[in-house]
Amino acid sequence: MQRQQLHASGPVFSRIISGAWRWNLPDTAVNTLIETSLDCGITTFDHADIYGDHSNEAIFGNVLRKNPSLRQKMEIVTKCGIKFPSAHRPASWVKHYDTSKEHIQWSAENSLKTLATDRIDLLLIHRPDPLLNPEEVAEAFTVLKQQGKVLHFGVSNFTSTQFEMLQSYLSFPLVTNQIEISLSHHTSMFDGSLDTLMKHRVAPMAWSPLGGGKLMSDNTAMFSKAVKYTATETQLALAWLLKHPSRIFPVIGTTRPERVKESADATNINLDLQDWFEMLKIVQGKEMP
Ligand SMILES: NC(=O)c1ccc[n+]([C@@H]2O[C@H](COP(=O)([O-])OP(=O)(O)OC[C@H]3O[C@@H](n4cnc5c(N)ncnc54)[C@H](OP(=O)(O)O)[C@@H]3O)[C@@H](O)[C@H]2O)c1
Repeated sequence: MQRQQLHASGPVFSRIISGAWRWNLPDTAVNTLIETSLDCGITTFDHADIYGDHSNEAIFGNVLRKNPSLRQKMEIVTKCGIKFPSAHRPASWVKHYDTSKEHIQWSAENSLKTLATDRIDLLLIHRPDPLLNPEEVAEAFTVLKQQGKVLHFGVSNFTSTQFEMLQSYLSFPLVTNQIEISLSHHTSMFDGSLDTLMKHRVAPMAWSPLGGGKLMSDNTAMFSKAVKYTATETQLALAWLLKHPSRIFPVIGTTRPERVKESADATNINLDLQDWFEMLKIVQGKEMP
């Protein structure tokens, strides 16, 4: 498994990342998913405070508490900024965003406790907040960095303009923008989003790289290449992302250990240029102009 830096002063992550959004599972199942990922060279794990209605970080933390040596073998990403009505957060009566200095600091501290770790490798603002005050975000990030609680910062689902605006208030680089990218959701390749990240030498993380699994059921024709590459549909869909020069880091979401292994092997496939465009043609239903 390749390991690469997200940015020249950013963290080194495995090129495929395991996402914990769907890991609302018994501790033993999450333990198996973590160990399988690590065995395949997938050392980076993607969380958010809200996953599993605020439970998935705690399940992951239980595994680390039982086997603390795992922490040294992995990098942890988590997110903050979304609040919604939940028995776990009785103060919220409507879904909203909170990127205040107080909330970012509180949320990072809470994730540290819940994940049973002394540091978060990368903290992301989960969604662009219409009320985001960049000076407050910069203050919160700076304090957390100085305290050594969070090593690097980034954003998720930000437009290029939002990314550059927040960056302009920071004295250190945002190291990623985690956005939705897949064969079925590739607008970022054409609307300037990936170009902006490349301009700043920042690698994107791609959420739902298999379209949440729908890609497989909806696009059988696209995977006619499977035989040529002796690869599975999952591997081809990931290889298609890995070929992009922006150095996309796909965040896979499977809950099955065997699919974790299968995904890791996608890094060994180098799609032919024309196969890449043919897959795009099939999914778009038309040729490039
Ligand atoms: N930043 C954000 O706003 C944001 C938003 C969404 C997600 N994320 C992150 O991205 C990660 C991945 O998202 P995702 O789970 O949507 O990713 P995904 O990998 O596109 O989808 C995973 C889903 O596809 C299914 N699947 C995988 N391979 C399949 C196959 N060959 N045939 C049929 N179904 C298949 C999986 O089922 P099985 O479990 O049965 O394999 C699972 O339900 C999340 O865990 C989270 O960390 C971030």
